[in-house]
Formats: sequence, C-alpha cells, structure tokens
Amino acid sequence: MPVDLLPTPPCAELHLHIEGTLEPELIFELAARNGLDLPYDSLEDLRARYRFTDLQSFLDLYYSNMDVLRTEADFTDMTRAYLRRASAAGVRHVEMMMDPQAHLVRGVPLSVSVGGVWAALARSEEEFGISTELIAAFLRDHPVAEALEVLEELLAMGAPIIGIGLDSAEVGNPPSSFIDLYRRAREAGLRSVAHAGEEGPPAYIEEALDLLQADRIDHGIRCLDDPDLVDRLVREKVPLTVCPLSNVRLQAVPGLAEHPLPRMLEHGLNISVNSDDPAYFDGYVDDNFRAVQETFGLSRAQLALLAANSIEASFASAGRRAELL
Ligand code: ADE
Ligand code: ZN
Repeated sequence: MPVDLLPTPPCAELHLHIEGTLEPELIFELAARNGLDLPYDSLEDLRARYRFTDLQSFLDLYYSNMDVLRTEADFTDMTRAYLRRASAAGVRHVEMMMDPQAHLVRGVPLSVSVGGVWAALARSEEEFGISTELIAAFLRDHPVAEALEVLEELLAMGAPIIGIGLDSAEVGNPPSSFIDLYRRAREAGLRSVAHAGEEGPPAYIEEALDLLQADRIDHGIRCLDDPDLVDRLVREKVPLTVCPLSNVRLQAVPGLAEHPLPRMLEHGLNISVNSDDPAYFDGYVDDNFRAVQETFGLSRAQLALLAANSIEASFASAGRRAELL
C-alpha cells in the first residue's frame, strides 16, 4: 500500500462526457422513475458487463444505458452528481461534452437534454465552486448532414455551448468528413475540440488540426507513432486531453505501466489528465491522477504541470484562468 501519494492539485477537467458519468445506481434509479425495464437483473449483472475489449464494446453499452435519460430532471440529476463528485476530486473548472444526437435519435428533444444539463451547470459555481462550459459533441459514425442539422438547431435555440467536439467510433470515420461542420461552428464563433488518435492513426490528429482547426485534441496518444507529428505538437503547444484509465479499460494500451503519459511528458507535449467516462472506467479525475502517480512515481512538479496545463488549455476567460492557476 503506497503511503505518500500527493493530493490531486486543483485542476480543470477538459475531457469528460457527461453521459459517461451515469453510475449504475443512477441507471437503476432513473429506470424505476421512468417506468422502464432494464435488460439487467441487478446492479451486479450490469457491472459484470463493464469489461471492454475496445472502444466499440464500450460505446454499445454507453448508448444503451443512456436510454434511461428521458426528462430534463434526469439530465440535471446526472450532471449534479458528476459536479458533486468532481468537486471532491479537486476539479475547479469543467468543460464537459454531451452527445445531443444520441438523445435526439431516441426522441429526446434538444430542449430536454441541453436544458437539463444546463440547469445543473448554471448553478455549479454557487453550488460546487466549479466553473463550467458545455461542448456539443457530434457522432462521427453518423452522417455529417445530420450533425449540421443539429448544429443549426442548437444555434437557433441559443444553446449555451462554447464549442463543438467529435466523438464515437473513430477508426474509419476521419475528421476530414466533418470539415463543413467545423467551418460552420467557427463562423458561429464557437471553439472546437476533436477526439483523434485514441484508436485511430496519427493522420487523424493532423486532419483534426489542419482540416478542422481544432483547438484541442481529445486523447492524441497515438501521436507517438509519428515523431514528426510529436515535434509539431510540441512546437505548436497543442493541448492533448489524455485519459489514462480510459485507455487502459478500452485496451488502447496494454496496461497502465505501458501508458505513454511519461513519454509524452518527456517530449514536452502539452498534456492534461482527464477521466473521459468515469462511471465506466472506475475513475474520476483524482483516481486518474492517483493511478499515474502510483505507477510512474510522478513528482510534485509534474503533477502541478499537468494541472496548470489543464487550466491554460481551457476556454475559461483569462480572468478565471488566472484565478485558477
Ligand atoms: N464517447 C464517449 N466516450 C468516448 C471515447 N472515449 N471515445 C470516443 N467517443 C466517446
Ligand atoms: Zn472521450
């Protein structure tokens, strides 16, 4: 049992899917509240399915479990539960993604999903001391035309989003398919992030930067397969939102000891530590910090750098960033 782990420094969480914070207990609670039958007999039965072999095996369960989210209150309760837990983890600012399309295809309107999440975010500073931003992530395994339609709807309703993201099944769904979506978002004054290099090749990271003009790359761990790309990412200080426990659970890396985080630090890459889908990967941001600290024996200075990177790479105002640093 390690004795002298350092506490997680106050940080920003930049890579978090709010639907990935839906804990098994809340899934059962919401199913009961909404009169829905779950395809699981018990919490244990559900938990037994949290063994993933790759990204798709996780996504199948993630999308299926979302079906319990039906009302605004469901989205608000899920978001408040995350904020409460994140506050205990040391998170002081969060830029959370949500998947509006995944709810629309189930017949849940944007006003319900976005409205429900926003109701919790609007009170977050006062209630939990966490400032927040919301990112609408688009499903890369759906047509770009659908994404464009949803973006227009979000803009028309004045959705309180700071930017857009790109998530879901990566391999075979390159960033290049979403040029028009990111152009429209930019025209509308939105910021942007994109998952790239989680399971997909380094070329997807380059596409996300060159074709989508993404401000940050979510994951990006596969950049190490291309030394020239690593040099570029270092030179341009491109923020990479790394999620160590997620990468282990989705078998993007063979084990935590083989995770590239220490090599990424050595290269001088601009990385932060994040939880991705904490309810599915047994780990909120503090669990991720603890795991990498334990495994790699990171110094106080390295932990502070990871936390400072998260704050500097955030879309928070200069004033808020200065307050957090
Ligand atoms: N959606 C939720 N979590 C994701 C991940 N880790 N990669 C891609 N899409 C996701
Ligand atoms: Zn993610």
